[in-house]
Amino acid sequence: MIITIDGPAAAGKGTLAAALAKHYKLAYFDTGMVYRAVGLQMVLQKLDLTDESAAEKVAKQLTFTQMMELSRHPDFRSDVGGQAASKVSAFPKVRAALLKMQQDFSLNPVFADGTPANGAVYDGRDTGTVVCPHADIKFFVTASMEVRAERRYKEFVAKGINTTYEKVLQDMTERDKRDSERATAPLKPAENAVMMDTSAMNSEQEIAAAIKIIEERK
Ligand code: C5P
Repeated sequence: MIITIDGPAAAGKGTLAAALAKHYKLAYFDTGMVYRAVGLQMVLQKLDLTDESAAEKVAKQLTFTQMMELSRHPDFRSDVGGQAASKVSAFPKVRAALLKMQQDFSLNPVFADGTPANGAVYDGRDTGTVVCPHADIKFFVTASMEVRAERRYKEFVAKGINTTYEKVLQDMTERDKRDSERATAPLKPAENAVMMDTSAMNSEQEIAAAIKIIEERK
């Protein structure tokens, strides 16, 4: 079974994806990681984030091991990593260079320890529209901008990242705009996606609602 979960930042995709992967014993692919890895690598190498050729080169050379190493960097999940990811992900050549790696995972999904799985849960912006258009079930998860900014702010504070609610809100607004307006694979629901607004839901309610929908569809 392949499940895709797309939507804007901090809408509740990651929590839902991890919970569904656990519930249905599926592998999990957080596709934002590939763009964060390319963006952060550019930042660390002091490359110009507006240089598409440089970003394409970094994307083409990205290996899974390098992505995992970069994911341990303190800026991988910070505003710095998020903004850099959003900038490089708008380049069609970068998206093209990273597509196969993401699609191949659905052919041979594996758990974090490398053992094979019977399917995967994808989380991202275009996993239902571009990466896995033939997924068995697609969700598009949203929440109001204020709720999302509040959630992300609390996550940052819990991780000890020094920021303010206003900064998080501004960063998220900019990223959503860039992700939705880019020409290639913009953030939008797949035609057959199940829409979920999680503004008034806690994570337990969100997970229960999604499982109910999957069971009804089976
Ligand atoms: O989901 P996350 O916040 O980690 O994603 C970081 C950025 O990577 C997003 O803002 C978006 O620009 C980009 N992204 C994308 N397509 C995906 C996943 C993430 O363009 N499938």
